[in-house]
Amino acid sequence: MTIRVGLIGCGLMARAHLPGYEAARDQSEIVMCCDNHLKLAEDTAAKLGGTAAVTSEWQAVIDNPQVDAVDVCAPHFLHAPIVLAAAKAGKHVLLEKPMAMNLGEARQMVSAMEAAGKVFMVAQNQRYLPEHKPIKKLLDDGAIGRVVAARIDGNQFLSRGYPEGHWLFSKKLAGGGVIRTTAIHKIDLMRSFLGDVRRVTALYSTSGLNPGMDSEDIAAFAMEFENGAIGEAFFTFAAYQNPIPTASHELVILYGTKGMISNINGWHMHSTGVDGYTEGMQLMGLPNANYAESFVHEVGHFLECVATGQTPITSGHDNIKTIAIIDALYRSYETGKTTLVEHP
Ligand SMILES: NC(=O)c1ccc[n+]([C@@H]2O[C@H](COP(=O)([O-])OP(=O)(O)OC[C@H]3O[C@@H](n4cnc5c(N)ncnc54)[C@H](O)[C@@H]3O)[C@@H](O)[C@H]2O)c1
Repeated sequence: MTIRVGLIGCGLMARAHLPGYEAARDQSEIVMCCDNHLKLAEDTAAKLGGTAAVTSEWQAVIDNPQVDAVDVCAPHFLHAPIVLAAAKAGKHVLLEKPMAMNLGEARQMVSAMEAAGKVFMVAQNQRYLPEHKPIKKLLDDGAIGRVVAARIDGNQFLSRGYPEGHWLFSKKLAGGGVIRTTAIHKIDLMRSFLGDVRRVTALYSTSGLNPGMDSEDIAAFAMEFENGAIGEAFFTFAAYQNPIPTASHELVILYGTKGMISNINGWHMHSTGVDGYTEGMQLMGLPNANYAESFVHEVGHFLECVATGQTPITSGHDNIKTIAIIDALYRSYETGKTTLVEHP
């Protein structure tokens, strides 16, 4: 069976997804490319060999009976309208993170997709980095005992990657800044490692280093997980001279009752329960894969779910809890209070 895919939004992330479809060319074909800058849709279609139809109207992709699934790489404010329309038309959906501008939208999208009975996967690509699978297994097997604390960070300079005036600089179009756009990656990953979050406390600011940005580009926050573990986080879009080259090398430290696992320029472990890891922090020989690899695994998983009917690891249903944490962080700052994460 060939899964016929319509690409909505042909910018940076759509280009990152393409190798995933190339690797799965026996199972899938991109039959339509859409971008409101038609030239980008045309360029993408040309890159794919010139057979895909092009359009500047996303509704045309939804209305096309030749399209089985849509891959949505559009700005955040379009995520809900596109997914609700896709549900109505009975299309499977792979949607870039963040799933939604707020929890209300997220709940609506999941209900609509569940009613449609189609696959709904959120592209939380960091879950698909190859090194995270063995780490999750070690944690589940108790290699460092009970995880009692975690530290995470992310360092980017938004103005280096995107031009002034880009929609990511606008709170109205992106639904927030570094928290909704980037901290969401590690928050979602920590949910998979440690479980859900009970409450949060957040501080953030807008540095002025990203001209025209009207949302937060520096954020520090604390999280209390349901299992009692405490998480500390720092994320910035204002790392003017970013010392950390790729997202695969962003800091993660997991503190357990029998040891620690950390990513500080490579994955290390200290454990009193695993042979060879008892003397100080040992390099684990895990890949620190090229970040781009995560998109290939992510697209492959989506296509497999469509073909087999299995529920994606990062389903829309699962992601509601991630969006609930993001919303709680904003509420915490606005109210100046430690804030409970809403239950889905
Ligand atoms: N997983 C990651 O590591 C990662 C990294 C960057 C961005 N993203 C996410 O990917 C998504 C897209 O971000 P991006 O960086 O590719 O942005 P982008 O601006 O490069 O691409 C978005 C594209 O959507 C097009 N677009 C805007 N309005 C449209 C409309 N009405 N109809 C059709 N197309 C329209 C734009 O012209 C643009 O080409 C966002 O959700 C973003 O958060 C994920």
